[in-house]
Amino acid sequence: MLISSVSLLLASAGLSQALPHAGTKRAESDGLNWAPCNLDLPEGLEPASTVPVDCATLEVPLDYTNPDSKPLDLQLVKISASKEPVKGSIIFNPGGPGASGIDELYLQGKGEVYRDLFGGHWNVVGFDARGTGHTIPFACDVPRPGIKRSLSRRNNETLPQADMYSLLKRKAWNDAKVLVDACYEDQQETGRFLGTTFVARDMLKIVDALNEDGKLRFWGRSYSTILGQTFAAMFPDRIDRMLLDSVVLNDDYHAGHWITATKAAEDSLYHFFTECINAGPTDCPVIANFTGPATTPDALMKEMRTAFQELVDNPVTLPDEYEPLPWWQPGGIDLLTEFKYTVFSLLYRPEQYPTLYAYILTALTRNYEVVINPSQAATVPPTWNQGPNNFHGIACADAHFRADKPEDMYSLVQSQAVTGSFADGFSPQVWPCAQWKFKAAEQFEGPYHGINTSYPILFINSPYDPVTPLSNAWEASAHYLGSRVVVHEGHGHGFMNHPSSCSQNIVKEYFDEGKLPEVGTRCKPDMTGFEYAKLLVAAASGNSTVARRGLGSNQMRRSGQGMFGHQI
Ligand SMILES: *[C@@H]1O[C@H](CO)[C@@H](O)[C@H](O)[C@H]1NC(C)=O
Ligand SMILES: *[C@@H]1O[C@H](CO)[C@@H](O)[C@H](O)[C@H]1NC(C)=O
Ligand SMILES: *[C@@H]1O[C@H](CO)[C@@H](O)[C@H](O)[C@H]1NC(C)=O
Ligand SMILES: *[C@@H]1O[C@H](CO)[C@@H](O)[C@H](O)[C@H]1NC(C)=O
Repeated sequence: MLISSVSLLLASAGLSQALPHAGTKRAESDGLNWAPCNLDLPEGLEPASTVPVDCATLEVPLDYTNPDSKPLDLQLVKISASKEPVKGSIIFNPGGPGASGIDELYLQGKGEVYRDLFGGHWNVVGFDARGTGHTIPFACDVPRPGIKRSLSRRNNETLPQADMYSLLKRKAWNDAKVLVDACYEDQQETGRFLGTTFVARDMLKIVDALNEDGKLRFWGRSYSTILGQTFAAMFPDRIDRMLLDSVVLNDDYHAGHWITATKAAEDSLYHFFTECINAGPTDCPVIANFTGPATTPDALMKEMRTAFQELVDNPVTLPDEYEPLPWWQPGGIDLLTEFKYTVFSLLYRPEQYPTLYAYILTALTRNYEVVINPSQAATVPPTWNQGPNNFHGIACADAHFRADKPEDMYSLVQSQAVTGSFADGFSPQVWPCAQWKFKAAEQFEGPYHGINTSYPILFINSPYDPVTPLSNAWEASAHYLGSRVVVHEGHGHGFMNHPSSCSQNIVKEYFDEGKLPEVGTRCKPDMTGFEYAKLLVAAASGNSTVARRGLGSNQMRRSGQGMFGHQI
């Protein structure tokens, strides 16, 4: 209560500062100390950018609720427009929460790709949100002893699931507590200062520092659609353009429920089967020919149902030395939930089709050996992100749901389970938030409904996105007056993952001319998912850094990132 009156004061202070900027978007001189990037990169990490990239820092308060707060230096990165006239800056942020803007724009070299997507007249500016990159990195020293065992139960309506509540009681509740305690121990000083509301305030500071017209131009993907929706609700008059790509629902996120996250995962898998069969037995040998030339996606779904049911009835426990994801303690990890987690993450991008194909094959042939004993060949690549636990650091600080005992989570777990059949693979990772000991120092409580932004928001979403269902985009759009949704019919999470010149033109015209697409606009990708995957695999067999860094889910799993926002 107290916090919200403080935040109102700060909000109006922000507004009055911005007024003098009205007029041209172009910065005369933006008080930022831009200079060629000279970051202290970990050994072996080289920027993939092939164009000059500038860096700057911006001082903001560590704690906006405290007038005497210590300062925090935000790390900014800029890929300058390549063409005159320069129209201004578009701020990009990847998802996570916890993915780094510096990493994607500069180190992965995507900044120049996005600059060209926008036609070359806009600067592309990125930053590391709190908890991300080197900005108060959120890392917890989680102790890892212990071993436990087994599970079972059936549900044949859709793809079978493990009994999530028994998993919670048997293992996840205690494992979460180990993570929560370690994070509380290690992050006491700053754990409260992570969270989306402060990042929205940071972003307003960046807009002011850019000294253009005081308005935000923003592209947020995945979790960063929460950052965008929050910014738009807090500062509706400060929007010039906002593209929200692969949409997370504000209520679901801030509640800490994550109920919609697996709603469309089966549709995404079904779409993969359809693409595979259309691609034919050369690209997709066994699956495309599973029951002979007449193989259907339904036949493949049915077989997956049977395979998963076998793993429900006769659970397989992975070896204790199986490297657990960061919120799990070693031991007692069930093959079915781990397998579904992996399939779910491989559905993020058509680029991963070949790996996804290989995984699906292990289920069709019931030969899980490569899953149970993965080769240890892959070395962990160096990473800019110093906060491996920042998904929880940010998402849990933002979340309202709390529980004192597993029973208090029963309703939430049921709700997750009935919404999507991949919930047993996905949902456990968000369960630690129920015991989280930090709350964000400020949590903007809305209203999040009926928001009249100074320019309408453009949403874009795929119907085959495993983690942010298209229904999220419709529902979110209904809260922001005059906004539009483009249905991008490519596969996966993020419209750039499966290129469509139709989608890209709409985005470019929106930023350039403010043009909004007709309602009901749908865009097809330029080529099928398998064609695109082949193109990328061919590129990856060369020596491009971009191609090497893009490969597979191992990097995601090992870096401990959340499921959201990974990655173009
Ligand atoms: C679930 O399985 C049972 C037993 O095999 C069967 O009787 C029932 O019709 C199935 N339900 C659905 C929705 O498929
Ligand atoms: C596909 O199925 C047909 C008929 O069962 C078989 O003759 C053919 O060899 C199969 N092709 C592949 C690539 O498996
Ligand atoms: C939204 O804001 C604009 C500009 O201030 C105003 O003209 C319009 O009437 C508002 N719409 C609603 C529904 O309040
Ligand atoms: C590696 O990349 C460089 C520069 O992009 C290129 O000149 C060279 O031919 C490439 N080598 C191979 C083996 O592809």
